[in-house]
Amino acid sequence: MLTAKELRQKYIDFFVSQGHKQIQSASLVPAEDPTVLFTTAGMHPLVPYLMGEKHPEGVRLVNYQKCVRTGDIDEVGDASHLTFFEMLGNWSMGDYFKKEAITWSFQFLTEVLEIPLEKLAFTCFEGDDDCPRDDEAANVWKSLGVPEERIFFLPKKDNWWGPAGTTGPCGPDTEMFFIFDPKKFDEVAQGTKDGFNAADDQNLMVEVWNDVFMQYNKQEDGSFVALEQKNVDTGMGLERILCVLNGFDNVYETELFKPTLDKIKELATVHDDITSLRIVSDHARTMTFMAGDHVRPSNMGQGYVMRRIMRRAIRHGMKIGIQGHFLGDLSEIIIDQYSDIYPELSQKKEEILKAVRTEEEQFTKTLAQGMREFEKVTEKLREAFSDTIDGQTAFHLYDTYGFPIEMTSDLATENSLKVDLEGFQKAFEQHQELSRTASAGQFAGGLSDHSDESKRLHTATHLLHTALKKVLGDHVEQRGSNINAERLRFDFTHEEKMTPEQKEEVEKMVNDAILAEIDIHFKEMSFDDAKAAGAIGLFEDKYGDKVKVYFMGDYSTEVCGGPHVSNTRELGGFKIKKEQSSSAGVRRIKATVAANQE
Ligand code: ALA
Repeated sequence: MLTAKELRQKYIDFFVSQGHKQIQSASLVPAEDPTVLFTTAGMHPLVPYLMGEKHPEGVRLVNYQKCVRTGDIDEVGDASHLTFFEMLGNWSMGDYFKKEAITWSFQFLTEVLEIPLEKLAFTCFEGDDDCPRDDEAANVWKSLGVPEERIFFLPKKDNWWGPAGTTGPCGPDTEMFFIFDPKKFDEVAQGTKDGFNAADDQNLMVEVWNDVFMQYNKQEDGSFVALEQKNVDTGMGLERILCVLNGFDNVYETELFKPTLDKIKELATVHDDITSLRIVSDHARTMTFMAGDHVRPSNMGQGYVMRRIMRRAIRHGMKIGIQGHFLGDLSEIIIDQYSDIYPELSQKKEEILKAVRTEEEQFTKTLAQGMREFEKVTEKLREAFSDTIDGQTAFHLYDTYGFPIEMTSDLATENSLKVDLEGFQKAFEQHQELSRTASAGQFAGGLSDHSDESKRLHTATHLLHTALKKVLGDHVEQRGSNINAERLRFDFTHEEKMTPEQKEEVEKMVNDAILAEIDIHFKEMSFDDAKAAGAIGLFEDKYGDKVKVYFMGDYSTEVCGGPHVSNTRELGGFKIKKEQSSSAGVRRIKATVAANQE
């Protein structure tokens, strides 16, 4: 039996022996890239270096990286899809290329892991207008002894990887598959392209590794421009390779899931709903690692994904008969299991458990009631011979019982119903309109107009928001903002009290922006463009057609309705008056600007 720990080590050792330097797994929340919420591959934290910047550790790198992908969430519960996984990866930053990358992949699979060649199949890019057919890669595989009928050429949709967000490094790839039953595979595939697609079945094979030849930079307009340096980016799914090496047919049989699954089975009264059992164990791991990287359940950005994952886990827990709170206990098991590899988990154990338990307590309060409400809804629909949950009802489930829309959709599918998603969005927007108007009223109530005082403080709030993110980290999210004639008040997600040094640094950043005398302007754009421009701001704005983005030089880019002063110099100076706790995991700052004190 090969353990995950041994496997990680074998991988690192092999590539270190080929001149690679090991680098640490980065946070699940990308530090630099605003176009994606989570780190989805090992290459993600390396984007600047794939684009040409020099990496301090050199041009050959290797690591294992925590990743989250929610695109396949509906597949979770099958043999191989997960929302959290670890990726083993090696990189060449303008150094070696196809020949070395493929040769080492081959050697690692067949010599280090001793997988018989007959249990492997390979795919290469078939070529199109953007990039020619990858005979070069196929020829390397052949030169290593791979028979021609186990090499398949497929189009972009299969054999092209990236970019991870909307723009960035990408290129053709060659993928490696583990075949469970070589005889059956050959019968189905017979060396043909269509045959390969027919054989692409979980019972016959599973993709285990991908070597990407990153030589293009995808532009906003969709075109591909050649990168100056040719890179290699590879990724092997740890859970999948561990699974097949130990002779299992699904990842949940591995040691990585055993402790959580044992606990879930002990708590559950329904044991034949394998899918729900697996969903709970997958989601519990994802939520724990998210919390370990400072994500907290909320209605925005990463926090919303975490909330969705947790609420989905809780609902499936209920489906298999688990009584009472259980996610905290699962988290504890996962923290203990993984802390030697990811020490941040044990370091933040208390915070993680608190975040998980708080969300679970909050949601379970309304879940049972919400489920009863949902049953009433389905009953009514049946009586009316209708199969669609209307938008208002879906919004009611969201607003009153905390059902994320994805959860209502899941439930609907399980009951052979549909949800009017457009109607939901409309109801959501209407609600936003109402609450926006309400808060605008509050704002005006305090100040009676968009006075200069309020504009200055509002501008200072933007600068403060960005400075907090820079100084404390990307987990900082706005939780509330309030302005009166004298001061601003800003609530944000952060666990600890800020140190005097942190407060000073934040003040200095805002004051630097004031001294830099930056002209402020805004542009109206779509939410997607705003995100691509790196704007921070509220998730809720997603539902508007166009949003306003305020630009303050390099200091702040934020979605907001305004108004603001026209140059930062008008603030005169900035001072934090108070930093205190607001509620669990939320801090509050009160601050003033010099011009309002004169
Ligand atoms: N970045 C490549 C992938 O995720 C290796 O498959």
